[in-house]
Amino acid sequence: MSAGTGSPYVFGRHEPASHVLVHVSDPHFLAGGIRLGGRYDVESNFARTLEAIRAVHPHPAAIVVTGDLADLGEPEAYRRLRAAVEPVADQLDTPVVWVAGNHDERPALRAELLGLEPTEDPVTGIWDLDGLRVIALDTSVPGWHHGDLDEGQLSWLADVLAEPAPLGTMLAMHHPPLPSHLPLFDILELRHQDELADVIRGSDVRGILAGHLHYSSHGTFAGVPVSVASATCYTMNVARPAAEVNGMDAAQAFQLVHVYADTITHTVVPVTGAETGDYFSADWLERMAELSPEGRLEAFSRKPGR
Ligand SMILES: [Fe+2]
Ligand SMILES: [Fe+2]
Repeated sequence: MSAGTGSPYVFGRHEPASHVLVHVSDPHFLAGGIRLGGRYDVESNFARTLEAIRAVHPHPAAIVVTGDLADLGEPEAYRRLRAAVEPVADQLDTPVVWVAGNHDERPALRAELLGLEPTEDPVTGIWDLDGLRVIALDTSVPGWHHGDLDEGQLSWLADVLAEPAPLGTMLAMHHPPLPSHLPLFDILELRHQDELADVIRGSDVRGILAGHLHYSSHGTFAGVPVSVASATCYTMNVARPAAEVNGMDAAQAFQLVHVYADTITHTVVPVTGAETGDYFSADWLERMAELSPEGRLEAFSRKPGR
């Protein structure tokens, strides 16, 4: 059981989640902290996201960052990202799962974030979070923006999955194995999805975390739920007709992944400075906790005058 998984009270049918993962995507950092496209202040936007992460969940089991960590793959961009994330991860006492995206450069990512040799080898990893396994795949293709998984990574994944984990496995990858209704993303879609599906089917994989789209999206792949976190840098304005979808400096979000014995939920958390009410509080919870289940229904469920 991971610490700090939310409210200690059980008022409903589920025990508290055994794990909470923070799922963040697409920070697109740049050397010099300059604005992306001269427009998006990616570092400030990411800092606001980290502030929200720090406030929402004191002790997530991991922070998973699903790729496009740097926009141009510059070593300094990775150093800046590391300097931003490490204090928060240290404070929360949580590991960071770095996933490579199409904007990343493997050698710089490996050297600056992982302390590894600066090679073009795929950035993969396995984390055991008290029985929940997280596997990072590398769908990036050096020199290209579309996604792919070669035979080497697929057979490595099959070998790892041959032994189930006690609480199952979450895959983390940049290019989502989902359709997008935006033609621009079809050009960059993940190749060899049928082969990936063959590896996943019948395994203990319970969910797939992805990024790349810069908007929140959900679907299934090989019978497994796929959740795409929106971006922290800029998001795609999908309210427009598909042909006219472009970026906007708004609606940035991350996701909270709550892992239960029988389900996993993915909650989109908008990063916003909006004023928030104060009706619900720790004191309110305390008062509810003192009541019987029937008393709680009387106090909170019954409509007045009915
Ligand atoms: Fe991206
Ligand atoms: Fe991407």
